[in-house]
Amino acid sequence: MSNKKPRVVITRKLPDAIETRMMELFDVQLNLDDTPMSNAELIEAMKTADVLVPTLTDTIDLGILSQAGPELRLIANYGAGVDHIDLATARQRGITVTNTPDVLTEDTADMTMALILAVPRRLSEGERAMRSQNWTGWSPTWMLGHRIFGKRLGIIGMGRIGQAVARRARGFGLSVHYHNRHQLHEDIENELEATYWESLDQMLARMDIISINCPHTPGTYHLLSARRLKLLQPHTFIVNTARGEIVDENALTRMLRAGELAGAGLDVFEHEPAVNPKLLELDNVVLLPHMGSATVEGRIDMGEKVLINIKTYADGHKPPDRVLGDIA
Ligand code: DGY
Repeated sequence: MSNKKPRVVITRKLPDAIETRMMELFDVQLNLDDTPMSNAELIEAMKTADVLVPTLTDTIDLGILSQAGPELRLIANYGAGVDHIDLATARQRGITVTNTPDVLTEDTADMTMALILAVPRRLSEGERAMRSQNWTGWSPTWMLGHRIFGKRLGIIGMGRIGQAVARRARGFGLSVHYHNRHQLHEDIENELEATYWESLDQMLARMDIISINCPHTPGTYHLLSARRLKLLQPHTFIVNTARGEIVDENALTRMLRAGELAGAGLDVFEHEPAVNPKLLELDNVVLLPHMGSATVEGRIDMGEKVLINIKTYADGHKPPDRVLGDIA
């Protein structure tokens, strides 16, 4: 990159403090009204920018990447997940991709834990009853949920977020089980008191609560397929704060409606922002609008990561959060 300030196109509105710093450092195009960019606008950005700062709402696929101008050398994603970016094509075209790991781990783990508590304990149902003024007073048999303490939690994907969920879960008296591409080092397993299951199928059949915390890659698309969902026992709850595409949402919805699963806490959906309308009819699900990392602190930290990645790159160094593509 030359000595002139890099031209940076940011596809969505970012926290004010981050945009201010971006403007100080770079030649920036902001998106002040936060309307998601159309394909044509994205292509225009790819043609004119040195650096693109997209988010998970921008699909940066082969069609878009093939329009990139010669100046575009860095895609500094605002977010940890990069499943909306065709990494192989970016690599072929010599475009570096960075993301924002670590800084959303604790917030996402908090939200996961909130759903692990909210669904079995019927928090949303209770809250809805209050607001519709349906509460006639305490009753020994009304609004009974299920105890968390002593239940078995199966975590799918034991990376940073999975481990942060495990730490919290221990505090609530859950026994922690996990399936991961690789077994964790025994020191970490001991610290988390976590039991490794090499076979996902076997783990699924024995858990009370399942939490999905792996990235969405070609290898994890519909990891929880209709066949695997059928391995779960009818008393099992499912929580997903990772990506909707990891679960076959239609199969999940069918099973929830049929009473073949106890409930679900979903922060992510297969076709966001669309949600299967049949899910909206169910009482035993808690639905959130992809807000796992939505804290003021987290969103500023994510922006700071993006700033560091761009600045390091502009200064001629390797940015710290390069996505190497080894995520399948
Ligand atoms: C991410 O960064 O990938 C998260 O899903 C945003 O909440």
